[in-house]
Amino acid sequence: MRSDWNVLPKAVTTEIAVRVGGIIDVHAAPNGDHAEIASTVTGSTGRVFVKAAGGEFSVRSLRYELAATLAIDGHPPVVLWHFECDGWLVVGVEHLAGPHPDLSPGGADLDLLAVALKGLQETPAPGGRWFTPEARLGFVHPAMDGGMLIHSDLNPANLIKTARGLRIVDWAWASKAAPWVELALLVQWLIGSGHTPEQAEEWLAQFPAWTNVDREVVDHFASRNATKWSAKSRGTAERWVHDLAAWAGEWVAHRHGSRR
Ligand SMILES: Nc1ncnc2c1ncn2[C@@H]1O[C@H](COP(=O)(O)OP(=O)(O)O)[C@@H](O)[C@H]1O
Ligand SMILES: [Mg+2]
Repeated sequence: MRSDWNVLPKAVTTEIAVRVGGIIDVHAAPNGDHAEIASTVTGSTGRVFVKAAGGEFSVRSLRYELAATLAIDGHPPVVLWHFECDGWLVVGVEHLAGPHPDLSPGGADLDLLAVALKGLQETPAPGGRWFTPEARLGFVHPAMDGGMLIHSDLNPANLIKTARGLRIVDWAWASKAAPWVELALLVQWLIGSGHTPEQAEEWLAQFPAWTNVDREVVDHFASRNATKWSAKSRGTAERWVHDLAAWAGEWVAHRHGSRR
């Protein structure tokens, strides 16, 4: 849950100020709400994106995200510095200037996503302890296990278009899995961006991990994923949960329909 910058203890903001050459401006990120503090900080030495956590759960999550961000090359923002002070973990990363991609069908940004995904699909999980598919998603299938690194939350707000291609932020849910799981998790966001389930699956067919996975395995995934989001949506009024439940539901309805 997002907090205001002013909750940071003075000692913490002083440490940040030292690293950016004095804080000139702080601008909270408009999207996402997992991290307690996620803000663009402008200092005399330039811009830095700062994530900070003070609660026990959020410190654990940000520590995990920091480990993932440090372990992966090219896709995430570069980690510039990090420190702990007064119970807060604070991480400063490269500020990525650019819009989020438009993942609607046929759009040019999909090509950027394909390039980024092809690299990521071939990235083995680095050494360390990463979420298993079961720990990440809450359901299992032996075919979901694997040795590759997946981001697992490639919603457009976690993607930024830059001069160096599409960059991926927010590695708090990085997992070690079979690479098709990344693609299966993308379906709901493609549908949310205007794809029909057929169009989403057609686009994914360019990835070998997608074409090689058994149809029954994907059916199982789609079904468990839809059930999960539908159950979650019954317990909350949050719009994004209801959106995901609807998109996951569209996909599973399509898979059931196309089996007949
Ligand atoms: N390195 C960065 N540079 C610029 N903007 C960023 C950067 N990292 C994240 N953002 C923006 O801030 C938002 C929230 O950050 P994110 O890491 O996704 O936090 P959360 O865990 O709250 O979703 C992102 O959706 C993106 O718009
Ligand atoms: Mg995010």
